[in-house]
Parts: sequence; structure tokens; C-alpha cells
Amino acid sequence: MRGQGRSSLMCMMRGAMITGLFAAGVSVALAQMSVEMVPPLTGTDEPMESGPSDPIPRWTVDDIRQMRAYPEQPPVIPHSIEGYQLSVNTNRCLSCHKREFTQGSGAPMISVTHYMTREGQMLADVSPRRYFCTACHVPQADTPALIGNTFTDMSELGVGQAGDE
Ligand code: HEC
Ligand code: HEC
Repeated sequence: MRGQGRSSLMCMMRGAMITGLFAAGVSVALAQMSVEMVPPLTGTDEPMESGPSDPIPRWTVDDIRQMRAYPEQPPVIPHSIEGYQLSVNTNRCLSCHKREFTQGSGAPMISVTHYMTREGQMLADVSPRRYFCTACHVPQADTPALIGNTFTDMSELGVGQAGDE
């Protein structure tokens, strides 16, 4: 009886060792894979070391409104916003994009959602939650993509469009 118990214990230990070795092998393989998958966003320096930074890219300021990737996307800003003050007291963006000023500025009006509270209540002025424009709207720069992207527009997936026929 005692001998039998010992041999089954040995057997269990051997099994545990094999499982452990296998798990270690898998995690090493995964670590190697993630090194390849993670793009080098932090540069080649040692972590926490500071190296020279790339120059700030030039913004795209061609005034051409960009297509949205999906209907609810905040449109990107196609013009320069350099020096435009956006603080509690002053909002330079609204001086062109607010309903009252669009006729003079030729800017597209902030859409109706910008006048709604979280509960859908309409306000006379821009809603506080839409006041800081650059929390959602950003300018663009023509820079190489950091990682590959296989995004496909929904309309290119063979889905029939309203009004196609
Ligand atoms: C001097 C007037 C003016 C100011 C100030 C201004 N804009 Fe504009 N904006 C325009 C005009 C005009 C357009 C139309 C495209 C163009 O001519 O660049 C536009 C386009 C846009 C668009 C694109 C809309 C779309 O449907 O594609 C966004 C987003 C935008 N502006 C955001 C901002 C933000 C955010 C600020 C403040 C940081 C700002 N704008 C300040 C005049 C202005
Ligand atoms: C919380 C995010 C958010 C903030 C803050 C915000 N927007 Fe938007 N904006 C959006 C989204 C999302 C859309 C597109 C869908 C929609 O109209 O709600 C949009 C649409 C727009 C459009 C296009 C309107 C049209 O009908 O084509 C303009 C112009 C614009 N925003 C300007 C501004 C300006 C100027 C401010 C600051 C006063 C601002 N937005 C603040 C999210 C935001």
C-alpha cells in the first residue's frame, strides 16, 4: 500500500513538471510574439531615458472637409487652429461655428447634438458637455501610420445602400 501511494505521487509530480515546462515554453513563445506585435512607439532608447524627439508634424490645413469613417465620428478639423484660444472665458471656435455666426463666417454650424443636454433637452446655447471642442475634434497631419490598419468602410463590404437602384 505504502509503495503504491509513493509511485502514484511520483507520477503526479512528473505530470506537474511536464505541465509546468509546457506552460513556460508557451509563455516564452507568447512573449516573443508580443515583442514583434507591439510597435516601437517609445523609440529605441532604454525605458525612462530621454532622447531627441521628432519635430512636430505639419498640420493638414487645406480647408477640405474630410469624409467621416462612420456617421457618428466627430469630423476632423481641416484648417489651422494655431493660437485659437479655448478657455472658460473665450471660445474662438464658436466665434465661427455657432449658429448665430455661420452666415458671416461660412463655417458649418455645430450640429444640433451640440445644443442638447445628456438627457436630450434642447438648449439655446452650446451644451457645456460640447464646449471644449478639441476634446473630440482634432486636426490631422500627413504622417506614416504607426501600425498597419485593415479598416474597411461599411459601404465597401457589399452592403446595399439606400437609394442605390
Ligand atoms: C475663422 C473662422 C473659424 C474658426 C475660428 C474655426 N473654424 Fe472650424 N471651420 C471654419 C470653416 C470655414 C470650415 C469649413 C472648411 C474650411 O474652410 O476649412 C471649418 C471646418 C471645421 C470642421 C470640419 C467640419 C466638417 O463637417 O468636416 C471642424 C471639425 C471644425 N472646423 C472645428 C473647429 C474647431 C474645433 C475650432 C476651434 C479650435 C474651429 N473650427 C475654429 C471656420 C472656422
Ligand atoms: C463630446 C464630443 C464633442 C465635442 C466636445 C464637440 N463636438 Fe462637434 N461633433 C461631435 C460629433 C460626434 C459630431 C458628429 C455627429 C454629431 O453631429 O453629433 C460633431 C459634429 C461637428 C460638426 C459638423 C456639423 C455638421 O452638421 O456637419 C462641427 C462643425 C462641429 N462638430 C464643431 C464643434 C465645435 C466648434 C465644438 C466646440 C464648441 C464641438 N464641435 C465640440 C463631437 C463633439
